[in-house]
Amino acid sequence: MKIDTKLVQGAKEHESETGAISTPIYQSATFRHKALHESTGYDYSREKNPTRGNLEKTIALIENGTAGFAFTTGMAAVSAIFDLFSAGDHFIVCEDLYGGSYRFFEEICRKRGLEFSYADTRKIENIIQAFKKNTRALYIETPTNPMMRVSDIAEIAKLAKSKNLLTIVDNTFLTPYFQRPLELGADIVVESGTKFHFSF
Ligand SMILES: Cc1ncc(COP(=O)(O)O)c(C=O)c1O
Repeated sequence: MKIDTKLVQGAKEHESETGAISTPIYQSATFRHKALHESTGYDYSREKNPTRGNLEKTIALIENGTAGFAFTTGMAAVSAIFDLFSAGDHFIVCEDLYGGSYRFFEEICRKRGLEFSYADTRKIENIIQAFKKNTRALYIETPTNPMMRVSDIAEIAKLAKSKNLLTIVDNTFLTPYFQRPLELGADIVVESGTKFHFSF
């Protein structure tokens, strides 16, 4: 399937028994079990909800990833990524960066013991210079907000893999329609869904 078809058809696995063409919006917080220990797979919407599940499968499909996770905001998604790490872990981050992400790293993550170095990731030498023994991941925005700086995802991911580090890409500005970081070797891609606008 080409991306245009993926965007229109989505994952389409959660069509209801009614045959609804568009994915129904399930507003229920809780789901009935047929009997004790006979869950349909849906218990409580915070854990799993068919509408959100369809969105997550569609995101994974268009990004060419193995799994997708939907959050209420882009920053909630960024925050969830950094919950994967532990105090003492170090990250190399592009120096031009969305202000909300910078504040999150400096004002919240640092208090939790995570360490950050900022580098102009347009040049691979700057990344190499920033490596530390406790570096766990490279976090890049490309293009960046606000300066629209572009880094080479494939080159950076290759370097990261050679050092057993994760590459995390904020793909908000190009969206998976124009750039699919996982296909270029990145491990995690994140984006805010409220930014990109086409004008014809
Ligand atoms: C590059 C980038 N990443 C993340 C975010 C955060 O997204 P949200 O506002 O949906 O939390 C923004 C918001 O402007 C952004 O520009």
